[in-house]
Amino acid sequence: MKSPAPQSNALDRKFSVAPMLDWTDRHCRTFHRKMSKQAVLYTEMITTGAILFGRGDYLHFNQHEGPVALQLGGSDPEALAKCAKLAGERGYDEINLNVGCPSDRVQNGRFGACLMAEPELVAQCVAAMKSEVSIPVTVKTRIGIDEQDSYEFLCALIEASHKVGCDDFIIHARKAWLNGLSPKENREVPPLDYPRVYQLKKDYPQLDLSINGGVKTIEESLAHLAHIDGVMIGREAYSNPFILNEVDEKIYGEVANTQTRHDVVRAMYDYIEEEMRLGANFWHIARHMLGIFQGQPGARGFRRHLSENGHGKQADLSVMDKALSFVPE
Ligand SMILES: Cc1cc2nc3c(=O)[nH]c(=O)nc-3n(C[C@H](O)[C@H](O)[C@H](O)COP(=O)(O)O)c2cc1C
Repeated sequence: MKSPAPQSNALDRKFSVAPMLDWTDRHCRTFHRKMSKQAVLYTEMITTGAILFGRGDYLHFNQHEGPVALQLGGSDPEALAKCAKLAGERGYDEINLNVGCPSDRVQNGRFGACLMAEPELVAQCVAAMKSEVSIPVTVKTRIGIDEQDSYEFLCALIEASHKVGCDDFIIHARKAWLNGLSPKENREVPPLDYPRVYQLKKDYPQLDLSINGGVKTIEESLAHLAHIDGVMIGREAYSNPFILNEVDEKIYGEVANTQTRHDVVRAMYDYIEEEMRLGANFWHIARHMLGIFQGQPGARGFRRHLSENGHGKQADLSVMDKALSFVPE
C-alpha cells in the first residue's frame, strides 16, 4: 500500500490517558501529570461551537500539563480549521478529531462516531486542520458503527485520512451502536476486538496506531505494545490513577518513580491553593483525586471524608488533610 512518509512527530504516544467528557479537565490532567511526565494527556472533547461561539475560554490549559492533546468535536472543516489554528497558537501538542463518540447529542451535530460513515468528510476535516497547524492532527475512532463493521469499512476511514497526511490514529477496539445504546453501554456492550486493531498495524506499518478499550493495567499495556505503537487508557486511569505512577518507568524506560500516593496528593497542594486563590472551588479539583488510594487500607475512609466534606465554598485543604489521616502512610 503506497502512502506518504510519516511526519516527524515529537510526541511519543506509547501511553496516553483518554479524552473523557467532564473528567479529564485541566485539574484532572494536572493531577495525572504529577504521576507521569511522559503520558500524553487528552482534553475532554470540546466542540467547535463552544470554542468559536461559547462564553468562556474553552482552550485554557495549564502550561505544566504538557504534553497535552486537544480533542475537537465537529464536522465543519472550516470551523475545525479555525479551532485548530487557535489551539496551535495556544501551545497544544496535538489536535485530535473525535470520530468515536456515539451520544445522540453528538450525532445531531453530525460528528463523533457517525462520521465513520463519511470517510471523505473526515479527510476534509483533517486536511483543513492540518493546513493551519504544524503539530500532529490525529483521529480517534471505533472499529465500526451499527452493521457497518467490516475490516474494509475501518480501512476506508483510515486510508482517506492517511491520504491527506494523517499518520496517527487511536482505535477504540469495539464498534458503536448509534441507536439503542447509551454512551455508557456503548463502552461496555459491543465486544472488544483487539486482533482487528493489531491487523491494522500489520497492514499499515507506517502509521502510528494506539489501541484503546478495556485496558486496566500497565502489564496489559505492555502486552499490547508488542503489537501496536501505543495504548490509551480511559476509565481505569481515572478511577485508579496511581497506575500512572509506573508509566514512566515501565513504559518509557525511565528511572522508577518512588513517590507514594500520599506524596502525589501532597504534590497537589500548591496547585490547589493557587487555583483556589484564583477562584476555583476545592471540589472541582479534589473530585479527580478520589481514586488515588484505590485498593489500599483506608481508601474508603479517604473517599468518604472527601466526598462528604469536600463540597461547598468553605471546603479547603484541611478537608484533604483529614481525609489523608484515614490512610496509613
Ligand atoms: C466519562 C467518559 C467520558 C468520555 N468522553 C469522551 C470524549 O469526550 N471523547 C472521546 O473520544 N471519548 C470519550 N470517552 C471514551 C474514552 O475516551 C474511551 O474511548 C473509552 O472509555 C474506552 O476506554 P477505556 O475502556 O480505557 O475506558 C469517554 C469515556 C468516559 C468514561
